[in-house]
Amino acid sequence: MNFSKYKKSTTSVWGGESDLNVTGAVTSPIVNSVAFSYHDVDHWHEVSLGKADGFIYSRNTNPTVAVLEEKIRLLEGAEAATSFATGMAAISNTLYTFLTNGKRVVSQKDNYGGTSKIFLDFLPLNKVQVQLCDTTDFDQFEIEIAKGCDLVYLETPTNPTLKVVDIKRLATAAKKVGAIVVVDNTFATPINQNPLALGADLVIHSATKFLCGHSDAMGGVVAGKKELVQKIYQYREINGASLQADPAYMIARGMKTLELRIER
Ligand SMILES: Cc1ncc(COP(=O)(O)O)c(C=O)c1O
Repeated sequence: MNFSKYKKSTTSVWGGESDLNVTGAVTSPIVNSVAFSYHDVDHWHEVSLGKADGFIYSRNTNPTVAVLEEKIRLLEGAEAATSFATGMAAISNTLYTFLTNGKRVVSQKDNYGGTSKIFLDFLPLNKVQVQLCDTTDFDQFEIEIAKGCDLVYLETPTNPTLKVVDIKRLATAAKKVGAIVVVDNTFATPINQNPLALGADLVIHSATKFLCGHSDAMGGVVAGKKELVQKIYQYREINGASLQADPAYMIARGMKTLELRIER
């Protein structure tokens, strides 16, 4: 299906859902298989090398999880998406993929508490330089970004202080120094804001919140440029913070009413 012609409410319901339903079922099945088998080893090998479509092992990819990733990819207008066991796993895997020894990151003082802890306590242990700006002082952001940095990390609106950050302005500053721009879009949801359209390279969701919407499943997603998402995926598939099929189904189910709930 070509979802570009559909509204977000329709994409929330049907995005990613069509390919799995060989039986004609109108909801995607929960595929709890850990491994996937093939009739011959050559086919398995092609899939494992990424040369043919299919699944190998659910720590890497899983059919139910793929439905959720595709739904969010479409809603964010991204080239690719990958998922995680929680929102914090999405954030930490993204930051640790790009911020190695000697790199510099510019972010804001108001981030979700867990994210702040990564910036204040954990990244400095890996000798990453962390500069946190006053969240709505965009002049200060521009000065710090212009000094040179590898990644700009934004969260808007912020949890819990509900401050709003100018993604477009700061993404423009980041591009001048070649920094990757990452935005936590959890509070806005793709219904209210698409950071990639404002110049971000990657968008993150704690799917635990509005996307799921029923406080009964946890998950996280990163969507954005294919090349960057691929690097994060490779980090996650080995570090292992993968989303399981059951919560993926619950979140995709909750997302079918996303626009209605956000409007309300
Ligand atoms: C804006 C934001 N980002 C990330 C997270 C972390 O998500 P999770 O609890 O799914 O790990 C939260 C959780 O409250 C949040 O509010």
